[in-house]
Amino acid sequence: MRTHLCTCYSLLFNSLPLLTSPLSRITMARSNNNTSNPKVHKMQHLLHSDPSGGWEKCWEKGVTPWDIGQPTPILVHLNQTGGLPKGRALVPGCGSGHDVVAIACPERFVVGLDISENAIKQATKLFSSSKSAEYFAFLEADFFAWCPTQLFDLIFDYTFFCAIEPEMRPQWASRIQDLLKPDGELITLIFPISDHEGGPPYKVSVSDYEEVLHPVGIRAESIVENHLAIPPRRGREKLGRWKRSICKSLL
Ligand SMILES: C[S@@+](CC[C@H](N)C(=O)[O-])C[C@H]1O[C@@H](n2cnc3c(N)ncnc32)[C@H](O)[C@@H]1O
Repeated sequence: MRTHLCTCYSLLFNSLPLLTSPLSRITMARSNNNTSNPKVHKMQHLLHSDPSGGWEKCWEKGVTPWDIGQPTPILVHLNQTGGLPKGRALVPGCGSGHDVVAIACPERFVVGLDISENAIKQATKLFSSSKSAEYFAFLEADFFAWCPTQLFDLIFDYTFFCAIEPEMRPQWASRIQDLLKPDGELITLIFPISDHEGGPPYKVSVSDYEEVLHPVGIRAESIVENHLAIPPRRGREKLGRWKRSICKSLL
């Protein structure tokens, strides 16, 4: 774990309910002024002081400033408009599981994976009696060590890439390659695109993804601005859709 903390980047992770409450204006104003968000600092402190169990501590203490308390709007939109692969989907670092449940359906079984027992407990508590419960599963496991028996047609990464240590990114890409079916798709929300120091969340750029995905043969089919990003993240988030590149000589 890196020892320096992010001191200037507030509300990278924030709570959507706050934005719709009377506190929202204050929160937004703070965000614009780069005043620090105590929850983000507390999260960073927990993660840096306990590299192996920091995520568990965050969940235990309810320090989850990244959690928007609802499914990611662009993912819901893609699902509703038939823009997502069917089959088997994986959401690594799924947290409280909103995105997992949002895309689970008879045509798509979704696995939500998180290293934190408390995150998985929370997701299970929230969604075990959901109508689509037979189409998803929450699993406590380390993304970097987990070996499933079946591969995935879709992997959706949101605020997982930026949460891991930047040194782990090549391993992240290698795991994506291992877990994706040959014609599977990786969908990433590239966030936070910024120039702040430290983390998590660590700053990301499109080239950070390309740098690790190109060597494993995965290339972007499209990278576009996410116009459905929640307001505080707007302008700092892109939607990336990636697939294995097919070598022309094999065609
Ligand atoms: C920043 S949170 C994002 C949660 C969720 N994607 C969201 O947008 O609300 C990162 C999540 O990744 C989980 N995590 C961190 N390292 C992990 C690992 N090696 N394997 C699986 N999950 C991990 C944490 O417990 C945490 O829930």
